[in-house]
Amino acid sequence: MTHLLHIDSSPRGDRSHSRRMTQEFVEQWQKVYPNDTVTYRDIGHNPIPHVDEAWIAAAFTPPEQHTAELQEAIRLSDQLVDELLSADVYVIGVPMYNFSVPSVFKAYIDQIVRVGRTVAFEPNDAANAFKPLVLGKKMFIVESRGDSGFQPGGRYEKMNYHDPYLITVFGFLGITDITFIHVENDEYGGQKLAESIAKARTQIAELTAA
Ligand SMILES: Cc1cc2nc3c(=O)[nH]c(=O)nc-3n(C[C@H](O)[C@H](O)[C@H](O)COP(=O)(O)O)c2cc1C
Repeated sequence: MTHLLHIDSSPRGDRSHSRRMTQEFVEQWQKVYPNDTVTYRDIGHNPIPHVDEAWIAAAFTPPEQHTAELQEAIRLSDQLVDELLSADVYVIGVPMYNFSVPSVFKAYIDQIVRVGRTVAFEPNDAANAFKPLVLGKKMFIVESRGDSGFQPGGRYEKMNYHDPYLITVFGFLGITDITFIHVENDEYGGQKLAESIAKARTQIAELTAA
């Protein structure tokens, strides 16, 4: 039995393309694998707080030395890390905001990149001090965008800090098996948007069937 972690990060509701596509993905997955389980986290509607001074102190103090204050400061981060580690497959919706991820998604990333929990730090290994700890996982990311042309060779390639960033940060944790699904051209609407949605739906049908 596989456990899915489904995350949405768009602040929009019914009008969100990434939200609709992750939902369709999970629904189709469950039709194929009815015994699989899903945890849902909606950070678009329930934002994740930014890390603060107490969080940093807690993250870099051994747990056995935590005061009640430090324990509380790191509680949500621990919960998010537990959630991440207990899932086998991730289905994540991430809009493009100003060429990168929405700030709430960055806040989520800052909570789950944890030395000793999701990445090991071995300072004496000069060649490779950071060792990924989140291994053997599979990730599907729906990226929604207002425009298109961010892919290699596209007119906005150099402005794309969206999938390159996600590949870098999740790869740093050990999640390297990532498949992207794109819904583009939201700003244009009409035929251009409809074609992109149709393409995403075909890809989702193929991925979940496989
Ligand atoms: C604050 C903000 C910034 C955006 N920045 C970009 C951008 O840099 N490039 C782009 O193609 N679209 C941009 N868009 C458009 C969104 O990516 C697009 O509407 C997408 O469909 C949003 O995801 P959602 O449909 O899941 O809500 C931006 C939208 C907002 C609200």
